[in-house]
Amino acid sequence: MRGLFLFLKFSLVGAAAIGIRDSPDQCPGYNAINIIEHDNSLTADLVLAGDACDLYGSDLLNLKLLVEYQTDNRLHVIIHDADEEVYQVPESVLPRPGSKTPGSHRDNPTIRFDYQPQPFSFRVLRGDQVLFDTANTNIVFENQFLHLRTWLPDNPNIYGLGEHSDSLRLPTTSYTRTLWSRDAYGIPSNTNLYGNHPIYVDHRGHAGTHGVFFLNSNGMDIKIDKLYDGRQFLEYNTLGGVIDLYFLAGPTPKDVSMQYAEIVGLPAMQSYWAFGFHQCRYGYRDVFEVAEVVYNYSRAHIPLETMWTDIDYMGSRRVFTLDPLRFPLEKMTELVNYLHKHNQHYIVMVDPAISDIDNEAYNRGRVRNVFLSRDENDIYEGAVWPGVTVYPDWFNPETQPWWNNEFERFFNKSYGVDIDGLWIDMNEASNFCAWPCKDPFDYAQNNNLPPIPPPVRPAPRPLPGFPNDFQPQSSQHGKRSSSLRPRDTKGQKIGLPGRDLIAPQYQIANAAGSLSNKTIDTDIVHFGKGYTEYDTHNLYGTMMSSASREAMLQRRPQTRPLVITRSTFAGAGAHVGHWLGDNRSQWDQYRISISQMLQFASIFQIPMVGSDICGFGGNTTEELCARWTTLGAFNPFYRNHNEIQNIPQEFYRWPTVAEAARKILDIRYRLLDYLYTSFHRQSETGEPFLQPLFYIYPSDKNTFANEAQFFYGDALLISPVQDVGETFVNAYFPSDIFYDWYTGQMIRGEGKTITLRNIGITQIPIHIRGGFVLPLRSKGAATTSELRRRGFEIVVAPDRDGYARGKLYLDDGESIHPANSSMVEFEYGDGQLRIRGEFGYHEAVLVESVTLLGQRKRKGVMGVRHGNSSDHDVSFDADRQVLKKQVHIELTAPTVINF
Ligand SMILES: *[C@@H]1O[C@H](CO)[C@@H](O)[C@H](O)[C@H]1NC(C)=O
Ligand SMILES: *[C@@H]1O[C@H](CO)[C@@H](O)[C@H](O)[C@H]1NC(C)=O
Ligand SMILES: *[C@@H]1O[C@H](CO)[C@@H](O)[C@H](O)[C@H]1NC(C)=O
Ligand SMILES: *[C@@H]1O[C@H](CO)[C@@H](O)[C@H](O)[C@H]1NC(C)=O
Ligand SMILES: *[C@@H]1O[C@H](CO)[C@@H](O)[C@H](O)[C@H]1NC(C)=O
Ligand SMILES: *[C@@H]1O[C@H](CO)[C@@H](O)[C@H](O)[C@H]1NC(C)=O
Ligand SMILES: *[C@@H]1O[C@H](CO)[C@@H](O)[C@H](O)[C@H]1NC(C)=O
Repeated sequence: MRGLFLFLKFSLVGAAAIGIRDSPDQCPGYNAINIIEHDNSLTADLVLAGDACDLYGSDLLNLKLLVEYQTDNRLHVIIHDADEEVYQVPESVLPRPGSKTPGSHRDNPTIRFDYQPQPFSFRVLRGDQVLFDTANTNIVFENQFLHLRTWLPDNPNIYGLGEHSDSLRLPTTSYTRTLWSRDAYGIPSNTNLYGNHPIYVDHRGHAGTHGVFFLNSNGMDIKIDKLYDGRQFLEYNTLGGVIDLYFLAGPTPKDVSMQYAEIVGLPAMQSYWAFGFHQCRYGYRDVFEVAEVVYNYSRAHIPLETMWTDIDYMGSRRVFTLDPLRFPLEKMTELVNYLHKHNQHYIVMVDPAISDIDNEAYNRGRVRNVFLSRDENDIYEGAVWPGVTVYPDWFNPETQPWWNNEFERFFNKSYGVDIDGLWIDMNEASNFCAWPCKDPFDYAQNNNLPPIPPPVRPAPRPLPGFPNDFQPQSSQHGKRSSSLRPRDTKGQKIGLPGRDLIAPQYQIANAAGSLSNKTIDTDIVHFGKGYTEYDTHNLYGTMMSSASREAMLQRRPQTRPLVITRSTFAGAGAHVGHWLGDNRSQWDQYRISISQMLQFASIFQIPMVGSDICGFGGNTTEELCARWTTLGAFNPFYRNHNEIQNIPQEFYRWPTVAEAARKILDIRYRLLDYLYTSFHRQSETGEPFLQPLFYIYPSDKNTFANEAQFFYGDALLISPVQDVGETFVNAYFPSDIFYDWYTGQMIRGEGKTITLRNIGITQIPIHIRGGFVLPLRSKGAATTSELRRRGFEIVVAPDRDGYARGKLYLDDGESIHPANSSMVEFEYGDGQLRIRGEFGYHEAVLVESVTLLGQRKRKGVMGVRHGNSSDHDVSFDADRQVLKKQVHIELTAPTVINF
C-alpha cells in the first residue's frame, strides 16, 4: 500500500515569480519531516521552511499534518499547530464522524492523497484526475491568518459556499465569498449573509463530481479567480482556526451530498403537518387581526395549516412576554385552542436577545449567569428590538436549562401560548447598535426603533366560529401576562492568546464593515473553556438552534420539533430548517430563491427550506404574488411572510392569487406523501430530493448552469415562468421522457429548450419524468390531518422502456420514533403494477385508482389478484393517452395489478 503516498516531483514553476508584496507567495511555506505512514493514515511534522513572512500576524513554526482515509469515499486532511492551542470548531457543536469502519480503506479508496515534502504541498486524486492541488503555492499558517490555494480546471463548475444569493454555479473570476454571519436585509448578492457553509461541489461532467468541506468557523474570504496566465484557482483566507479539510469522492453529485451528510449529520425529519401552508406577517396589529386572517383563509377556501406571529405579540418586543393589550394571554390561549380544535397549528418568533429591563426571563437568566459578559458584573449589552438587550451564552451549561425553563413557562401547554413549532431569528447575532456600541441605552433612545402600533381596538367584525372574546361585542379587558480568564491554553484548541480580536490585520470583505459591527463584540470570551466570539461568531445561530430544538423537545418529547432559523452553520439541518431571510418583493429575488433553496436542500443538507412567498420587503404585486404562490408550493417549507409597512399579501387578497393558491395547494397536498416520502429518504440516507438539473443529468452540459428549473423529488421537473408580464417559459428538457402534469401529454426531451406557452398567472408548468410511480392523495383537503384520511391515486409514468418505480413511506406523521411505519414499493413493467414492501402502518386508507400515462392503445387484459376490480372500472382517454383504472386496495399486503 506504499504506493498511495507517492513522492511526486512537481515541476516548480514560477511560484515566486507571481509573488507580489503582501501576497502569500512571499511566505516560505513548510517542510514535511518525520513522515510516518500508518495503515489508514499518515502523519508528519511541518516546520516553517524559511524566514517568517508575518503577513497578517505571526507565522507558526511547528505544525502537524494528519491524513486519514476515513471511508472508501472520504479523505480527511488536517493541519494544526503542534501545541493544539489554535481554536478548532468544538465537537460539542459539530461532532466529527471519525473513521466509519476501521480496517483497510487504503485497500480500496476512491480518492488518494499524495504530497511533496519540501516544500510541503499536496494533491488529492481520483484515478488520474487531480481534484485538489496545492503545488507551487505556499500554505500560510499564522496566528490570525490562514491561506491555502488549490488549482482548478478551466471554467470549473463550482457550487455551494453559502449562504449567498449569487448564481447557483459560482462565478470563476474576481469572486469572493465571505463567510461571516450577518443580519443582511434584502439578501443582496455578492455579500455575506446569515449562515456559513464552507463546502463546495466541483462538478466535472463525465469526469465526475467531488466535494470539499473546509471545517472552519472563523471569518473567511474564499476567492475564486484566475491568475494573469489564466490558471484557475480557489483559495481560503481565514482569520484563524486550522486547515481542516474533508474530501468527498463522489463520483456523482448525489453521492457528494450523501457523503457530506455523513460528516455534518442527516437532516431532521419533519412532521407531516409541517409541510402544510404557513401564513405569517410582521405587523399584525393584535390578536383580533390574527384571528381574522385565519377566518378569511377559511372563507376563501384556501387551506391554512399554520398561523404565525412575528415580534408583534411580545410586550414591548421582549421575548417571553406578551403585549398585555394587543395580545393578552387569555385571548392567545383561546386562539391557540381554536386552531388546535380545527387541526391547525401556531408558531411564534423568539429572538436570542433578551431585554435587560426588569422581566422574569432576564432576571432568572441573570441569577444563573447565562448571559455573555466581560466579567460577572459586566454583562455585554447591545440593542435589538426591545432596546437594550443581553445575549445568552450557549457555551454556558446553565443556559440550556434556563432556556428550557423559559419555554416551559411561557409556552405553557395548559395556560399559555402552546406553540406547535418555533421560529428563531436575529441569531447571527444581530445588534442594531453599530460598533463600537458605546452606549446601547443611548442608541435605543435616539435611534427610533420601529414604532409599536397603538393599543388594541375593539374587534372590528364578527368572526363566526371563534370564541366570544373575538366577537365585536365582547369586553376588551386584557390581563397582564407573566411577563475572563487567563489560563493554560495548550492542548485546549480554544484559541491562541494574544490576538487582536477586534481588528485583525487581514480584513475579510464583511459587508457590515468591521468584524464586530452590528453584532456581538468579537473580543467577548464565552463561559467555560474560554472560546472567543472571534472564533465562534459563525456558530451562534446554530448553537441557538440546537438549544431551541432541545427546549421544544422538553415540551413535547415524543414529537418532531419544527424549528425554523435564520442563521445556520454546517450541520444545522440535523436540528432545524431555514427560511431564506428578509428578501424583497422583486422578480430577481423570486428567481434567485430557486438557487438559494437548492443550495440548502441539496448541498448543505438543510432540506426544510423556503423563501418568503410573495416577498418580505417592499410591496408585492398581484402578478408576482400569484407566480410566487405557485413556485413556493415547491419549497419544502411553504410560508407567506411580509413586512410591517407593506400592503397585505395574504393569498385571499386578490382573486387571481386566491385562485392560484387553491389550485397549487390542491396539487401540493396531493403530492404531500411524495414529498414526505422523499424527505424521509433524505433524513435516513442524505440523498437529496430537491435537485438542480445537473444532479440528475450530470453528463449533460446544458444543465450545469440551469438555475431556473429544478426537480422536486426525482420525478417532477418544475419550470416556473421567469419574469413580469410573461406567460411563457423557455424550459430545458434533457434527453428523457416527460409527461405534462396537467394533460398527461408526453414530451420527448431532446436536450433542447422548449418554449411552453399560455401559462396564466395562476399556473406553473410541472412535468413528470418517465420511470416513476407517484402515490398521490386522491384530492386536496383543508388541513393535512384531513389529507391523511384521503385515499391514494397511483400515477404511473413509464420510461422509454415502459418501466416505472416509486415508493410511499407512511407513519403516524409526527413521532420521533414511530411505533410502526410502512415502506411501500411500486414497480411497473410488462403491463403489471406490483406493490410490495413493508406494511407496518395500517390506516383505513385505500388505493382508489391507478392511472397509466403514455398509453397509445387501450390494453386488453386486466384484473387484480388481490382486491377487486372489473372491466367497467377502466377508462381510456385516447387524447391524453391515459388509462385509468378504479381499484379498491388496502395498503396492507403485497398486490399485483394487471393492465
Ligand atoms: C436582492 O437580491 C438580489 C438577488 O440576490 C440582488 O441582486 C439585489 O441587489 C438585492 N436587493 C436588495 C435591495 O438588497
Ligand atoms: C378579512 O376579510 C374582510 C372581508 O373581505 C376584509 O374586509 C378584512 O380586511 C379582512 N381582514 C384581514 C385581516 O384579512
Ligand atoms: C402552566 O400553567 C398551569 C396552569 O396555570 C400551571 O399550573 C403550571 O405550573 C404552569 N407550568 C409552568 C411550567 O409554568
Ligand atoms: C457599521 O455599519 C454601518 C452600516 O450599517 C456603517 O455605516 C458603519 O460604517 C459600520 N462601522 C464599522 C466600524 O464598520
Ligand atoms: C406600499 O404601498 C403603500 C400603500 O399603497 C404605500 O403607502 C407605500 O409607500 C408603498 N411602499 C413602497 C415601498 O412603495
Ligand atoms: C401500530 O401498531 C400497533 C401495534 O403494533 C397497532 O395496535 C396499531 O393499530 C398500529 N397503528 C397503525 C396506524 O398501524
Ligand atoms: C371491493 O370489495 C370491497 C370489500 O372488500 C367492497 O366494499 C367494494 O365495494 C368492492 N369494490 C368494487 C368496485 O367492487
